Amino acid sequence: MAKLYAIGVGPGDPELLTRKAERLLKAVDLIMAPFSRKGDEGIALEIVREFLDPKRQQIVTRFFPMTSDPDILADAWRRAAEILADHVENGKNAAFITIGDPLLYSTFIYIKKIFGESYPELEIEIVPGISSINTASSVTGIPLAEAGQRIAVIPATSGIEAVEAAINGFETVVLLKIKSLYPEILELLRRIRPERDVVLVEKAGCKGQKIINDREFMAIHHPDYLSLMIVRSL
Ligand SMILES: C[S@@+](CC[C@H](N)C(=O)[O-])C[C@H]1O[C@@H](n2cnc3c(N)ncnc32)[C@H](O)[C@@H]1O
Repeated sequence: MAKLYAIGVGPGDPELLTRKAERLLKAVDLIMAPFSRKGDEGIALEIVREFLDPKRQQIVTRFFPMTSDPDILADAWRRAAEILADHVENGKNAAFITIGDPLLYSTFIYIKKIFGESYPELEIEIVPGISSINTASSVTGIPLAEAGQRIAVIPATSGIEAVEAAINGFETVVLLKIKSLYPEILELLRRIRPERDVVLVEKAGCKGQKIINDREFMAIHHPDYLSLMIVRSL
């Protein structure tokens, strides 16, 4: 029976794709790749392009706008789910690719919900990917947690109070989606973490990767969308 595969393609380096992801990407009939900036076909597709065969496989790019308008978002997710379900119902294997891992702040989570509600008979298999969090930890050599330590993952979009509470409550905090709240985060860190236990990682595991430890340089830097920070107690 045909399936929908949700494939995590890792942070950017095609060598960080799992063997299972590579095998399935070469085998499926349709690959759907999300993108959210017009004119940019999507980071996930760039990562896996070398494994695809456009003569044999259908490659569909879908625009998922970066908006908080629930109607626009719901419409984009539903239409994507319909295309995928249509293929699977017709006996074709389809893959939805996501950067990092498919179940960590990914559009796939919404598509999975729609499948559960509207197409419960269709099978989904999730292929985990190496997340940006693990990649940032590896490229900086900063452990995420040891012994009894606790780790919090906070999207900065949840607000500066949530960021502050996490930093005060956990030994390690990983801040994702930092771009929109960057000046406020730097100000908070100046106030409550003046030491050197903060690193900014931009494009972890990708071409153009940057690791910034220097607070003065951080202050004049304009982070890319693909940026995160690790804040860790020394
Ligand atoms: C929508 S989330 C996607 C997370 C992804 N599913 C994962 O497993 O890493 C996007 C956020 O993840 C972080 N991110 C994703 N890829 C990254 C990379 N290669 N380097 C640094 N941060 C990254 C950034 O904080 C970005 O704003």
